[in-house]
Amino acid sequence: SAAEKGGYDYFMLKEIAEQPKAVADTLLGRIDAAGSLTLDEVRISASELREVDKVVIVACGTAFHAGLIAKYAIEHWTRIPCEVELASEFRYRDPILGPRSLVIAISQSGETMDTLMALRHAREQGSKVLAICNTNGSTIPRESDAVLYTHAGPEVAVASTKAFLTQLVACYLVALYLGQVRGTKWGDEISAVIRDLSHISGEVERVLETMEPVRALARSLAGKNTVLFLGRHVGYPVALEGALKLKELAYMHAEGFAAGELKHGPIALIEEDLPVVVVVPSPRGRSVIHDKIVSNIQEIRARGARTIVIAEEGDEAVVPYADHLIRIPATPTLLQPLVATVPLQVFACELATARGNEVDQPRNLAKSVTVE
Ligand code: G6P
Repeated sequence: SAAEKGGYDYFMLKEIAEQPKAVADTLLGRIDAAGSLTLDEVRISASELREVDKVVIVACGTAFHAGLIAKYAIEHWTRIPCEVELASEFRYRDPILGPRSLVIAISQSGETMDTLMALRHAREQGSKVLAICNTNGSTIPRESDAVLYTHAGPEVAVASTKAFLTQLVACYLVALYLGQVRGTKWGDEISAVIRDLSHISGEVERVLETMEPVRALARSLAGKNTVLFLGRHVGYPVALEGALKLKELAYMHAEGFAAGELKHGPIALIEEDLPVVVVVPSPRGRSVIHDKIVSNIQEIRARGARTIVIAEEGDEAVVPYADHLIRIPATPTLLQPLVATVPLQVFACELATARGNEVDQPRNLAKSVTVE
């Protein structure tokens, strides 16, 4: 009913708007007054976490994209090797696991059969499994050794939005906590990032306040057949998520690529007026990747692409090559997906509506897939 949708036309719009609160709620009580993480609720002891020699993340769909982003954070802040695998592939591949492997199963519903089978397989090999889940008491956390709940609240729209942002928060918390417990050379950076994370919901709110031009742009592209998405570093999984949202909601051909791979194939797809969304990493920090993606934008634009550039406020280098510029607040490099994903959700939702699609219940999809 309209009341359930809180005055929004669709659950998806309501859930997009709820993201600042979902993010804040997922952080609540997990950062202490001294700015350290307190994840005592995770029933894996600090000494066990110090023994971990490998992290393996398993998930499906949007949750898998959260896992891809987590890999960048975990390897950077903890120096523990991390693999991310589609749950449906992992189970049947004979993966190498042992008692010192930490397997992280990410699932909004906690009922996805592929993810459940993957975690059962991991436990049979003697690995510890940590679930990151949004649904209290669901099967995946019940069968795991430990759980870190995301506090997104119920997500009704089939296409995941607020659950994804909270999965990212949970992944950052795990990565930072592992770093904190094990002690790495990144101690100062970890403290600084925990501080930034505690303010990030306000930044998500600011992004939401500036979405009108994104909606207008989406409507203007309703007649297109294809949209491509490019990113580098953590912007690459964000590009994959932007493409997935467009497939799910707008039923359009959409693909995400690592911008560095363009020259190895995808650049052949570029033609006159093809919309290409580019997620640009911060020019601060890893400025080399920033400069490289700016040349990627130049290359595709020279071949006729219509460039839709998502870039940090104050990043002037992209301005000459952006046909459409979407600004997001400056964040630490690894946290950027929390703000960069939001315009892509709004974009897909508006494009789907403009094409007359049912946003909350896309054809052929289910909110939770309980068969293998
Ligand atoms: C389904 C949904 C996706 C979701 C995926 C994983 O395919 O349509 O939106 O990302 O399942 O769901 P989970 O509940 O395990 O996060």
